[in-house]
Amino acid sequence: MSPEKNYNRRDFIKRAGQLSGVLIGLSAFGNLLPGCEQEEMPFEPAGMRAIYLNDYPVLKEIGGSASLRMRNIGFQVIIVRKSEEDFLVANSTCTHMGCTVDAPRTAQDNLLCPCHGSEYSREDASVIWYPEGFTPKPLKKYNWTFDKASQILQIDFSVTV
Ligand code: FES
Repeated sequence: MSPEKNYNRRDFIKRAGQLSGVLIGLSAFGNLLPGCEQEEMPFEPAGMRAIYLNDYPVLKEIGGSASLRMRNIGFQVIIVRKSEEDFLVANSTCTHMGCTVDAPRTAQDNLLCPCHGSEYSREDASVIWYPEGFTPKPLKKYNWTFDKASQILQIDFSVTV
């Protein structure tokens, strides 16, 4: 084997090792990134998700809202904290043509669809404004329970309300 071929093979093995280290590092880093994806809890029955509000400071504030992506839930979920113990939990899928509706940006804003401007109430996800020719339908909402002591919001995705 020529020294050049030997060098190339060593170089290849060295670079492959470096690349795999980077990929492993990225994978580990990805798990540490604070994201909007909620981990599925082992004790959760099918269709149920627990949100620990301590993990989402914006939802600790009355009037706060967030759009969360959760594992095995095929859409983003908009949560609005309406009062100390009252929440809106809605599917962010616009009932017009399926775009993802944005969570309210302030404590006064409603939920807005960026595609054609539909506006949904922050109180009950009912339609406030919609494009001409559209038969308005509210966003899907889900049952939830809230335990104030633990600050856990338990959402039941198996039932829309
Ligand atoms: S898809 Fe939302 S307004 Fe058209």
